Amino acid sequence: MKPIQVGLLGIGTVGSGTFEVLKRNQEEIQRRAGRGIEVTMVADLDVARAKSIVGANVQVVDDARKIIANPDIDIVVELIGGYGIAKQLVLEAIEAGKHVVTANKALLAVHGTEIFAAAHKKGVMVAFEAAVAGGIPIIKALREGLTANRIQWLAGIINGTTNFILSEMRDKGLTFDDVLKQAQALGYAEADPTFDIEGVDAAHKATLMSAIAFGVPVQFDKAYVEGITKLESQDIKYAEQLGYRIKLLGISKRTSAGIELRVHPCLVPAKRLIANVEGAMNAVMVHADAVGTTLYYGKGAGSEPTASAVIADLVDITRLHTADPLNRVPHLAFQPDAMSDLPVLPMAQVVTSYYLRLRVADQAGVLAKVTGILANADISIDAVLQREAGEGESHTDLIILTHDCVEAKMNEAIAEMQQLSTVLAPITRIRKEELN
Ligand code: HSE
Repeated sequence: MKPIQVGLLGIGTVGSGTFEVLKRNQEEIQRRAGRGIEVTMVADLDVARAKSIVGANVQVVDDARKIIANPDIDIVVELIGGYGIAKQLVLEAIEAGKHVVTANKALLAVHGTEIFAAAHKKGVMVAFEAAVAGGIPIIKALREGLTANRIQWLAGIINGTTNFILSEMRDKGLTFDDVLKQAQALGYAEADPTFDIEGVDAAHKATLMSAIAFGVPVQFDKAYVEGITKLESQDIKYAEQLGYRIKLLGISKRTSAGIELRVHPCLVPAKRLIANVEGAMNAVMVHADAVGTTLYYGKGAGSEPTASAVIADLVDITRLHTADPLNRVPHLAFQPDAMSDLPVLPMAQVVTSYYLRLRVADQAGVLAKVTGILANADISIDAVLQREAGEGESHTDLIILTHDCVEAKMNEAIAEMQQLSTVLAPITRIRKEELN
């Protein structure tokens, strides 16, 4: 049978990895897919560079629309990124009847509803394994492997740059700014690392996982997003003394009131496997009613790990493209007419536990006043740590771990504690998840 023909829109890091792995493992891939899969066209603005990667047998063009217009191309792989031209080209490819594979989490998290609806109408597939956690087959696991389950929550380290920064801060006692420079020099962080360090990249990925896990539309605009830029090394040290590590987690939970969808730094018990995921690695924990807790670990970025995910999608499409669209796996795991309208909860309604650090005057009654405010708010304390005041110091740090409470209540308690004349600096609050 004639090989399935693929056109790549963009041949940067992921595109060149995809081309290379498809070539290297072509025999094995064909045995799995039942048919060859060949990149026959590439569009890239740097035609000379693209030609040097793919050689003379692949047609290289500088206009992506030439790929979309080519009737021989079965699958378009979008590796441009961003919401601009990438969105336009994906919609045009769908309109032209092409199946689409994309690694573009930003595009799908923000415009997924429109894109999946267009694909559904046209009867084509939009596959996006590479958009979440690079080489880890988490989309496949959530959408198919766990299909028997009622999924209750998921929590993931889904941004390698921030995990690298947090690991280095903890290991070497370095500041955030120092490690960020190192991450950029190593090529982990983007030249403009804002999406990484502000939690936006993780929130794009959490949004996609949440939609598939719970059968709700992609709703990036409802996600709570907090990055790691304000995190201080001293909190990493105090957390460690209390038996916790701080990780940037993407979390989504199903509650009776709605879906929690949030990205923020989080204390995690040091004994959990996920707390020991270091450097640029990614990991996702999923808790579901039948299977219990499962953990998926691997490289969340990089040329061949991400190519591995892109090619898995190419194989899936190759196997299914002749199937009746109604018999294919739905884009968001649930049938489009069976989506839930469970709302995404505002952060004030989220229930979690907390780490608080207060810089307080080292004098009688301070602890009683602080704990009194928490008691009045019905917030139960789990542990307290007080740093011994240094020689000649008249202040100290008070660290409090709480049990679960609703965020609105904690906001009020923090505001009240902040008013105390013995609380000398803005209170640090970091959320905590036991993940058990
Ligand atoms: N910038 C991302 C990360 C890479 O650091 O994980 C892939 O999304």
